[in-house]
Amino acid sequence: MKVACLGAGYFAQFHYDAWRRIDGVDLVGACDRDPSKADATGATAFSDLGAMLDTAKPDILDIITPPSSHAEAIARAVKAGVKAIICQKPFCTSLEEARTSTRLTASAGIPLIIHENFRFQPWYRAAKEVLDQGRIGTPHQLTFRLRTGDGQGPQAYLDRQPYFQTMPRLLVHETGVHWVDTFRYLFGRPTAVYADLRRLNPAISGEDAGHILFDFHGGRRALFDGNRLLDHAAQNQRTTLGEGLFEGTEGTLTLTGDGGLHLRRFGAIDAETVLAPKKWAGFGGDCVFALQKHVVDALQLGTPFENEAADYLFVLEVEAAIYRSAEIKARVEV
Ligand SMILES: NC(=O)c1ccc[n+]([C@@H]2O[C@H](COP(=O)([O-])OP(=O)(O)OC[C@H]3O[C@@H](n4cnc5c(N)ncnc54)[C@H](O)[C@@H]3O)[C@@H](O)[C@H]2O)c1
Repeated sequence: MKVACLGAGYFAQFHYDAWRRIDGVDLVGACDRDPSKADATGATAFSDLGAMLDTAKPDILDIITPPSSHAEAIARAVKAGVKAIICQKPFCTSLEEARTSTRLTASAGIPLIIHENFRFQPWYRAAKEVLDQGRIGTPHQLTFRLRTGDGQGPQAYLDRQPYFQTMPRLLVHETGVHWVDTFRYLFGRPTAVYADLRRLNPAISGEDAGHILFDFHGGRRALFDGNRLLDHAAQNQRTTLGEGLFEGTEGTLTLTGDGGLHLRRFGAIDAETVLAPKKWAGFGGDCVFALQKHVVDALQLGTPFENEAADYLFVLEVEAAIYRSAEIKARVEV
């Protein structure tokens, strides 16, 4: 399977590293408009996407650039006849543009998978198994407290992701969207949302704190409680980005900042470890590797993809409902 990547910025390092660790994958090109960045990946470097598609003839194009480049890159990959496209989130610059790109790939019969990696984190895979096995009884509530600890003061985010400072929408659009998707992975599609969003750091443009309440069928709920200025107990704040609770009638799962997952039975004090913390390769429990491997496996075995674009559009609709709710200060049906 020949893979070429568009983009060689901060997050791309995790993609290149993961591709190199997947059996049967041949990394055939890296393209960035900054040639020195493409060069630094160690793959055959290009500064023009068309040239890379013509020369390297990849089976998969992996798009790791910001949203403004997505629609054009997808259209060029479709024209070049790739077998599949993976595209980083946030997917395109608007819901309309995302729908157009989705239609284009669907009519060409080319799978377009959104790189929504958090649902592939090992603790969410393990939690899903516990929920599906009924080990916490009837699930009532999911809670995630995002506490990245990187949002204080005028220098916030500048060393890693400087573009965070000027994004008009930050907490939900850039980061919280991962839990919109992860909650739906665990609980299905939400039916309504209520959001209260705030900007605490005056040095940035967008929101960096807030609460989002999600309603699901059967009266189940989820709470996303985000605050980028506060931290949580972890050697590496970027392993889980916070802490979680998955509560049911017969037990509670706790996700700790080291990536450990612990099950406490209803009425008990002590908990058993479901997933032990460990030092994972890559980013966030090696979720980039898991997502990319999932795409390769699905292409080779014909198994279904998670988060094909047509399905992922729903996440963008939920995101729009969240911002609408914050704006009108009311619950919004999805
Ligand atoms: N899923 C996740 O966990 C996760 C984490 C971080 C970032 N991201 C997303 O990944 C994307 C990239 O983020 P980043 O932090 O690497 O950004 P970055 O700014 O560090 O890197 C982007 C790179 O893309 C290149 N580029 C931009 N437009 C281009 C074009 N049209 N043609 C060729 N090259 C182009 C730039 O030169 C730059 O090197 C963003 O959409 C971001 O939201 C996702």
